[in-house]
Amino acid sequence: MGHRYRADDRFYKGTRYMDELEATGEKLACEVFGADWATLRPLSGHMADMTMVSTLTKPGGSILTVNPADGGYPGLSDQAGYPTFVNVRNLYFPFDSERMNIDVDKARGLIEDEKPSLVVFGQSFFLFPHPVKELASACSSAGSRVAFDGSHVLGLIAGGKFQKPLEEGAELLLGSTHKSLFGPQGGIIVGMSGAEADVKGRQFPGLVDNAHWNRVAALAWALDEARRVGEKYATQVIANSKALAKGLNEGGVPVKCEDYGFTESHQVFLDIQDQKEIESLTQRLEDANIIVDHGIRIGTCEATRRGMKAKDMEHVAELIVRVYKGEEPAKARREATRIRRQFNRILYT
Ligand SMILES: Cc1ncc(COP(=O)(O)O)c(C=O)c1O
Repeated sequence: MGHRYRADDRFYKGTRYMDELEATGEKLACEVFGADWATLRPLSGHMADMTMVSTLTKPGGSILTVNPADGGYPGLSDQAGYPTFVNVRNLYFPFDSERMNIDVDKARGLIEDEKPSLVVFGQSFFLFPHPVKELASACSSAGSRVAFDGSHVLGLIAGGKFQKPLEEGAELLLGSTHKSLFGPQGGIIVGMSGAEADVKGRQFPGLVDNAHWNRVAALAWALDEARRVGEKYATQVIANSKALAKGLNEGGVPVKCEDYGFTESHQVFLDIQDQKEIESLTQRLEDANIIVDHGIRIGTCEATRRGMKAKDMEHVAELIVRVYKGEEPAKARREATRIRRQFNRILYT
């Protein structure tokens, strides 16, 4: 399938299994996300976002998202993001950085005043569910379309453990399929009633031609896994991030949002502001075979799929604490490698 095309108008012959595959994958996605319709064709989360913007806004319109400065996705920002290419003006959610969440009252006021064409919930630095339900009626009164970019949290949503954007008032739920959802790299869009024909019409052939059917096959498989064991997986992912955050914090590494339980997602943020300290710590961790980003944002999905439980995350936290406190990375690396070797299976499959 990795070399082939299929088309709805049957231009290509010999596509029976790909036709079945797409229908099966869409049905699974609807079941997993509680949607009326789905498409597995976006080649990435970003392309799903492009499809969303070009379907739900017009040139001269506006889009409300989380600012990258607050952990929003730069690809949807006015810092060289897609909306600027299609003449769509960016607005940003008022944000409470203590709680790492949208400020509901101020956001309601902004939506009433500005009447954005499109309101997009979801962000890249994502600890807590977004207030979709709380803002849905303001969006509806303002005539704003509502979407949820779940790139980071799709696996948790699939497991029923984060929030239910489509029930709460979003018309589209979209995102990457390879972050907390353990599919192949790619994208997905699912939705309620209205927008299906518009989204699919915009998508093909304007934004996605060949959907890469080998990827779609892998994604359908991942959705079936999510349907069967997604709840168990998501529960463990969240338990693991809470255990990791607690272990780090108790060990003396500052972790963001302590007063709010640190996290309800797969992510944990270290609360370090000094850029030099961030550079030094992330490098020393890399030297110890512990890979994080400059956020400093740590995710527990992959470790969870490898079978790590809360007690193992405490062990990982301990290692990070040792490096943070100045232990020689080479020494920590031996321990990191030893721990990692104990987890050679893929679970939740
Ligand atoms: C919120 C959000 N949306 C979209 C994307 C883009 O996804 P992809 O990398 O699959 O294109 C990202 C990437 O990290 C993201 O964080």
